[in-house]
Amino acid sequence: MNEYVAIPPIAVHHNGMEFIDSKVCLECHRQIVEDHYQTAHFKSFQIANKNTIQGSFEEGKNRLELNPEESIKMVAKDSGFYQEARIGEQHQLFYSAKMDIVIGSGTKGESYLMWHQDQLFQLQASYFTPTDSWINSPGAPKKIAPARPVIERCLECHTTYAQNLSGIKKGNRFRKTNIVYGIDCQRCHGDVVAHVKHHRLNPDEKNGQNIIKYNDFTRQQRLDACALCHSGLRKEVTRNAFEFTVGDALKNFSVPDYDENSLNNLDVHGNQYGLLKASKCFQKSEIMDCSSCHNPHKKERGNLAMFNQKCVNCHDIANNAIVCGGDQSKIKDMSNNCVQCHMPLVNSKTMKIQIPDNEEIAVQVRTHLIGIYNKQDLN
Ligand code: HEC
Ligand code: HEC
Ligand code: HEC
Ligand code: HEC
Ligand code: HEC
Ligand code: HEC
Ligand code: HEC
Repeated sequence: MNEYVAIPPIAVHHNGMEFIDSKVCLECHRQIVEDHYQTAHFKSFQIANKNTIQGSFEEGKNRLELNPEESIKMVAKDSGFYQEARIGEQHQLFYSAKMDIVIGSGTKGESYLMWHQDQLFQLQASYFTPTDSWINSPGAPKKIAPARPVIERCLECHTTYAQNLSGIKKGNRFRKTNIVYGIDCQRCHGDVVAHVKHHRLNPDEKNGQNIIKYNDFTRQQRLDACALCHSGLRKEVTRNAFEFTVGDALKNFSVPDYDENSLNNLDVHGNQYGLLKASKCFQKSEIMDCSSCHNPHKKERGNLAMFNQKCVNCHDIANNAIVCGGDQSKIKDMSNNCVQCHMPLVNSKTMKIQIPDNEEIAVQVRTHLIGIYNKQDLN
C-alpha cells in the first residue's frame, strides 16, 4: 500500500484552497511542466534577480535620462538591484529604491516593483525589449516622480494569487508571504490537492481524478478561462477575479468596462477575446476557441509555420471550406504566411512608451480580428 505524505502549501487562498508548488506536477506531467516554465505566463511575475532583470547595469548603459537635470541610474550591489534617482548638476542622490519584483515576461518589456513594508509600488524605470534599453514607465512624467501604488488589478492578471490586505479594491497592501508568482497551473486548473493525493495512492490509475475537466466544458466556459485576463478592462459586478475558477461563468464576476459593440473600443493589447469574437472565423464556426491555435502550456511565439497550419486545418479546399482568394503564387512566395496578411501587427492605442530622443511610440501587438486587410498587397 502506498503512503501519502501531505504536501505543504506555498500559499492559501482566502477561500481556503491550498496552492502547491508546480514542481509537484513534474513527477507525473514532466513535459507539460518543463514547457510551462518557458512560457510568458509563468514568467509574468518573478522575484527580481540577475536572471530575471533584463536591463543592463553596465556603466554607459545603466542610465535613464529624464531631462538634462534628472536621471535614474541602475545599480547592482551585493544586497540587490537598485534604481537611484539623481537630481541637479551634481547628480545628487534623491532616492535609492530596491527592485524586488519583475512584472512582465520581457517578451516586450519589464517593469519593476518594490515593497515598502507590505505596500507595493511600481518604480519609474522600466525596460523595453525591442530597443534593449531602459525607458520611462508608460504614463510617467519626464521628471522624477513618486513611485506609483500597484493595486490588486495588476496582480489579478499577472499572478496566480495574491492576498489583498487593504480592505479596499484600490489599496496596495498585500500579504508578502501569501503570493503565488506568475500564472501557474492552478490559475487554469483550480484545486489539485485531492488529485495529487489520489494519483500518488493509485499509480495505475490512467484517468485524471479529482480535477476539473476542460473536455466537459462548453465553448463559452473554455473561452472564459482565458477571457478572465484577455478581454481588456473589466469592472466587477460581484466577485473578485481571484475568486473565479475555470468553469465559472465570467459574466457573473465582471463585465467589460467599455462598449463591446464598437470595434474602436477593443485594443489589440489585452483584448484578444473581444477581437476574436468579432471575426468571421469565430462567428461562423462552432468550435473555434483559443486552443484552436494555442497550446496554453507551450511557448509558441515566432512559430508561424505552426500557426499557419492551424488556418489551413479549417481553410482546406478538401473540406469544401472557403479558401484564400489571394494570388496563390504570391502566397506561396510568402511561405503561406496567412497570419502576416490576415492577423497583422497593429499599434496598440493604450500601450505607448517614450524611448530616448523620441516621441511616444505605440507597442505593436498581433490583432485577433482575423480579416481581409490590404487587398492591394496581392496586386
Ligand atoms: C502522482 C501522479 C500525478 C501528479 C503528482 C499530478 N497528476 Fe495530474 N494527472 C495524473 C494522471 C495519471 C492523469 C490522467 C492522464 C493524463 O491526462 O495525463 C492526470 C491528469 C491531469 C489533468 C487532466 C484532467 C483532464 O482529464 O482534463 C490535469 C489538468 C492535471 N492532471 C493537472 C495536474 C497538476 C496541475 C498537477 C500538479 C499540481 C498534477 N496534475 C499532479 C497524475 C498526476
Ligand atoms: C490570470 C490571467 C491570465 C489567464 C487566465 C490567461 N492568461 Fe494568457 N497571458 C496573461 C498575461 C498577464 C500575459 C502576458 C505575460 C507577460 O508577457 O508578462 C499572457 C500572455 C499570453 C500569451 C502570449 C505568450 C507569449 O509568448 O508572449 C498567449 C498566447 C496567451 N496568454 C494565451 C492564453 C490562453 C489561451 C489562455 C486560456 C487557456 C490564457 N492565456 C489565460 C494572463 C492570463
Ligand atoms: C493558461 C492556462 C493554463 C495553465 C497555466 C496550465 N494549463 Fe494545463 N490546460 C489548460 C487548458 C486550456 C487545457 C485543455 C486544453 C484543450 O482541451 O485543448 C489544459 C490541459 C491540461 C492537461 C490535460 C491535457 C494534456 O495536455 O495532457 C494536463 C495534464 C494539464 N493541463 C496540466 C497542467 C500543468 C501540470 C500545468 C502547470 C505546469 C498546467 N497545466 C498549466 C490551461 C492551462
Ligand atoms: C486585464 C488583465 C491585465 C491587467 C489588469 C494588467 N495586465 Fe499587463 N498584460 C496583460 C496581457 C494579456 C499582456 C500581454 C499580451 C498583450 O499585450 O495583449 C500584458 C503585458 C504586460 C507587460 C509586457 C510583458 C511582455 O514582455 O510582453 C508588462 C510589463 C505589464 N503587462 C505590466 C502590467 C502592470 C504594471 C499592470 C498594472 C498597472 C498590468 N500589467 C495590468 C494583462 C493585464
Ligand atoms: C476553426 C476553424 C477555423 C480556423 C482555425 C480559422 N478559420 Fe478563418 N474562417 C473560418 C470560417 C468558418 C469562416 C467563415 C467562412 C464563411 O464566410 O463561410 C472563416 C473566415 C475567414 C476569412 C474571411 C474573413 C472575412 O471577414 O471575410 C479569413 C480572411 C480567414 N478566415 C482567415 C483565417 C486565417 C488567416 C486563419 C489562421 C490564423 C484562420 N482563418 C483560421 C474558420 C476557421
Ligand atoms: C486563429 C488562430 C488564433 C486563435 C483562435 C487565437 N490566437 Fe492568439 N495568436 C495567434 C497568432 C498567429 C499569434 C501571433 C504569434 C506570434 O507572434 O508568434 C497570437 C498571439 C497571441 C498573443 C500575443 C499577442 C502579442 O502580439 O503579443 C496573445 C496574448 C494571444 N494570442 C492570446 C489569445 C487568446 C486569449 C485567444 C482566445 C480568445 C487567442 N489568442 C486565440 C493565433 C490565434
Ligand atoms: C499576401 C497576403 C495574403 C496571404 C499571405 C494570404 N492571404 Fe488570404 N486573402 C488575402 C486577400 C487580399 C484576400 C481577399 C481576396 C479578394 O477579396 O479577392 C484574401 C482572402 C482570404 C479568405 C476569404 C476568401 C473568401 O472567399 O472570402 C480566406 C479564407 C483566406 N484569405 C485565407 C488565407 C489562408 C488560410 C492563408 C494561408 C494559407 C492566406 N489566406 C494567405 C491576402 C492574403
